[in-house]
Amino acid sequence: MTIIERGRLRPFTGTITGADPFAEIEDGAVVVEEDTVIAFGPALEIIADNPDIPVVPVDTLLTPGLVDVHIHYPQTRIVGTFAGELLEWLETVTFPEEARFEDPDYAAEVAVEFFDRLEAVGTTDATIFCTSSPVSVDALFTEAMTRTIRVRAGLVMMDRNAPSALLTPAQDAYDQSKALIERWHGADDGRLSYMITPRFAPTSTPELLEAAGALWREHPTCGMQTHLSENSAEVEWVARLFPDAPDYLGVYERFGVLGPGAIFAHAIHLADREVGALAEHDAVVAHCPTANRFLKSGRCDVTRLLKAGVTVKLGTDIGGGTTFDIMEVAAEAEGVPRRSRPQ
Ligand code: GUN
Ligand code: ZN
Repeated sequence: MTIIERGRLRPFTGTITGADPFAEIEDGAVVVEEDTVIAFGPALEIIADNPDIPVVPVDTLLTPGLVDVHIHYPQTRIVGTFAGELLEWLETVTFPEEARFEDPDYAAEVAVEFFDRLEAVGTTDATIFCTSSPVSVDALFTEAMTRTIRVRAGLVMMDRNAPSALLTPAQDAYDQSKALIERWHGADDGRLSYMITPRFAPTSTPELLEAAGALWREHPTCGMQTHLSENSAEVEWVARLFPDAPDYLGVYERFGVLGPGAIFAHAIHLADREVGALAEHDAVVAHCPTANRFLKSGRCDVTRLLKAGVTVKLGTDIGGGTTFDIMEVAAEAEGVPRRSRPQ
């Protein structure tokens, strides 16, 4: 069944365009087909375009969907736990917590909490990192089957520079990812989908990135996600680990991790060449301002990215980020007007 819901509409979908994310259309409408919003805009236009669809007035705020393109479900319980900047925080807080997700009961329990938190703030579409344990991925997707949110998620691939319990040799990470793609990609009529997920260059050998690139070539309908240039010490480390690469993004580029729709979280400390390459390859930057503040990573120059033609979307980056609410993230985003924020 398809209906038009008519009422006050906030058309923001999570992509930063330079417009105010909180702007509203007083007389707006969304077209809802079964559970999915298929069109939205000013009511008169929507009704004119769909004259045969029944119109239902609503007195709650309409949105086409709240989209979070970067979040780590295994970090649900460490939100707000500070331990210095990125690399120290990963080592002392994040990796020990992620190691707990070998336990299927623990993983299942946190998956429930995670979706409860997302539902409470109205998120309808989330792109998610699991841990390097396939147990964590099965737990997440199994819980997702009982919900209605669109879920895009994958196994974190890491084969160096993390505790040994979290490392998986490149070939095994490839095999495990492939098995998970076969199990979950496209499940529940396409509501669930798989993201190939090399964590970031510092925890990857060339072989691991090669495996991630191969998976994407072999499964082009899957997504790709990783982190890029979040912290200055991280960027310097990548230059030492990959001395032949022109810059950080160049590492991903060489192994086929950079491509259309690939999501790069943070992308703060970039050379002009990297900004140009992100645009040229139709990649997406996940802008995570609350995490950038919490981990003291620096300020992302979103205006520079937009001017270069890069697509920029929003991520909560739980648990580096401090809120599950993507509209709170929007309120802190760079590259959007500061007026008319809710008080
Ligand atoms: N870079 C690599 N892993 C992570 C992570 O878990 N969180 C953040 N914020 N940055 C990362
Ligand atoms: Zn992240």
